[in-house]
Amino acid sequence: MVVPEPGLPGRVRVHEVGPRDGLQNESATVPTEVKAEFVRRLAEAGLTTIEATSFVHPKWVPQLADAERLYPLLSGLDGVDLPVLVPNGLGLDRALALGARRVAVFASATESFARANLNRSVDESLAMFEPVVTRAKRADGHVRGYLSMCFGDPWEGPVPLARVVRVCRALLDMGCDELSLGDTIGVATPGHVTALLEALAEAGVPSGVLGVHFHDTYGQALANTLAALRSGVTTVDASAGGLGGCPYARSATGNLATEDLVWMLRGLGIETGVDLGLLVATSVWMSERLGRPSPSRTVRALASADSHKEQ
Ligand code: HMG
Ligand code: MG
Repeated sequence: MVVPEPGLPGRVRVHEVGPRDGLQNESATVPTEVKAEFVRRLAEAGLTTIEATSFVHPKWVPQLADAERLYPLLSGLDGVDLPVLVPNGLGLDRALALGARRVAVFASATESFARANLNRSVDESLAMFEPVVTRAKRADGHVRGYLSMCFGDPWEGPVPLARVVRVCRALLDMGCDELSLGDTIGVATPGHVTALLEALAEAGVPSGVLGVHFHDTYGQALANTLAALRSGVTTVDASAGGLGGCPYARSATGNLATEDLVWMLRGLGIETGVDLGLLVATSVWMSERLGRPSPSRTVRALASADSHKEQ
């Protein structure tokens, strides 16, 4: 049953991260053709932004070492943006050479994670990103700036709002078109989300350039998403079937499952353009390839025969 809540947006853009954030953390390496089929099925289910892969060092993320082979297999998906992660100039060269124009750099609000994930301090990584962003923009690109550890960090504990605001400002000032606020280890709670979004608004960062990226370690991702929507955010990252995590952050589990997100948004009367049945079928298909069931509650409920009745 659809029961709208006043003050929420009429439409949300789902930024699907399953093929990148989801598969980067799988212990099994998924064949390139299976990844391509996964992206195609996600597009058929109505997702229009599908983060495809990363052009990072193959030793750092071996699961995505086939980026050069995968990306060309994804041509011909009309109306679908396929952003890719690029940490540095070499990553950008690799992406541009294949025709990719939507790229994402990925910063950290904490020193420990910057070091673990990028082998750099926070400021050194920002210095690494600046020419990447400038060059991508010059090539008519669109740049997303991820910011990890916006709420808590496994080494440093709770993260002060001011540190997050500082790095967000730096990413915007260097020319990023949008930001994604990452709760990399899933420790955020709704009041913290609202407080961060208020602090960002006070620093002149409009909610229109922000996306939210919640991992679901403590089961808070949906509640956090609702808090973000109430603060004006309309871009939400999610991963089909709840796949995901980060190999360089102890205790990072799967992302908010796209199905759980779409179920909630549908109940609130918020458009996403996603066909939930096709998406669930895709996640069931992928979980068979991975040899384990999806952690998404919505996938499990809708995939079981007697739960199919429309609510
Ligand atoms: P480094 O070792 O400092 O690199 O790693 P370097 O610049 O010193 O270069 C060392 C070697 O790596 C050189 O080769 C380079 O050519 C090569 P050599 O001369 O020794 O033969 N190299 C590369 N090769 C291929 N592609 C490249 C590349 N760059 C250098 N792009 C580096 C620095 C950034 C490369 C490394 O730390 C890295 O690849 N990190 C990626 C880590 C990662 O992908 N993490 C997961 C994504 S982030 C995430 O999941 C969080 C997010 O979901 C949001 C959230 O949840 O919070 C986004
Ligand atoms: Mg992530």
